[in-house]
Amino acid sequence: MRITFIGGGNMASALIGGMLKRGAIAADIAVVELQADGRDRLAREFGVRAVEALDASAAGCDLLVLAVKPQQMREVCASIAPLIDGQTVLSIAAGLRASDIGRWLGGRARMVRAMPNTPALIGRGVTGLYADASVGDAERARAEELLSAVGRTVWVDDEKLIDAVTAVSGSGPAYVFYFIEAMMRGGEALGLNADQARELAIATFTGASALAAQSPESPATLRERVTSKGGTTEAALKSMNADAVGDAIVRALAAAAARGAELGDQLGAA
Ligand SMILES: NC(=O)c1ccc[n+]([C@@H]2O[C@H](COP(=O)([O-])OP(=O)(O)OC[C@H]3O[C@@H](n4cnc5c(N)ncnc54)[C@H](OP(=O)(O)O)[C@@H]3O)[C@@H](O)[C@H]2O)c1
Repeated sequence: MRITFIGGGNMASALIGGMLKRGAIAADIAVVELQADGRDRLAREFGVRAVEALDASAAGCDLLVLAVKPQQMREVCASIAPLIDGQTVLSIAAGLRASDIGRWLGGRARMVRAMPNTPALIGRGVTGLYADASVGDAERARAEELLSAVGRTVWVDDEKLIDAVTAVSGSGPAYVFYFIEAMMRGGEALGLNADQARELAIATFTGASALAAQSPESPATLRERVTSKGGTTEAALKSMNADAVGDAIVRALAAAAARGAELGDQLGAA
């Protein structure tokens, strides 16, 4: 598969690294990156072809990946639109809708939209994917091949659900960090030192997540199993329920999804 990236920053680097680890050939990958030092790094680190502007060779790829910031997207699309003629274009930009990007590209692209998350940087991401009706099975498989190189993938069949994906997994790492921070604070308040609290909180998240992923039981069942009557876990969960922590998290996700839709409206206008 010949892939061209527009934008060679953090996410593009994670995706390129993941593809190469999985046996992709560096000569099949091109990156358009404005910064000269960025191009040098990409060529040195990955052995890929790094160029300043999209040329006919790089445009004639199987998958064109838009990996620039959402605010840069419109200008980028205007600059590459003359070279777009039926390619499958995958955007990883937060908020921006496939229909808006497709319009900026002159209506000649088959659009796929993806919402990865930051653990992709260490190959442990999860990405929500949506493809418009013009995208066939072979093109979907190419998008899947790329994103599965940095973690798991989940397809949705309605683009609106990408806002839900953003709310759960796109923004999700920040909620996990928030919870870890709170557990560290709580541990320190009980007398642990900062290193001890950090080690205990992070390892608990890693271990409990792995257990939930491997177990056939639901998270609710796993929680009930560690909550003995009159025990310490029950005391903590009663306190959380009294503070409606679960409901607050549900409301937080709704706020993230609403903001995603709003960003889509703002960024896609015009
Ligand atoms: N990082 C994440 O966890 C994450 C998660 C989900 C989605 N995303 C999405 O992924 C996209 C990329 O994020 P990132 O963290 O990789 O950003 P980034 O590190 O800033 O990478 C974007 C790169 O594209 C370059 N660029 C800008 N305009 C260009 C142009 N016209 N032609 C070629 N290159 C151009 C930028 O150069 P300059 O520095 O000169 O602007 C920068 O090097 C964003 O849209 C973001 O919403 C990221």
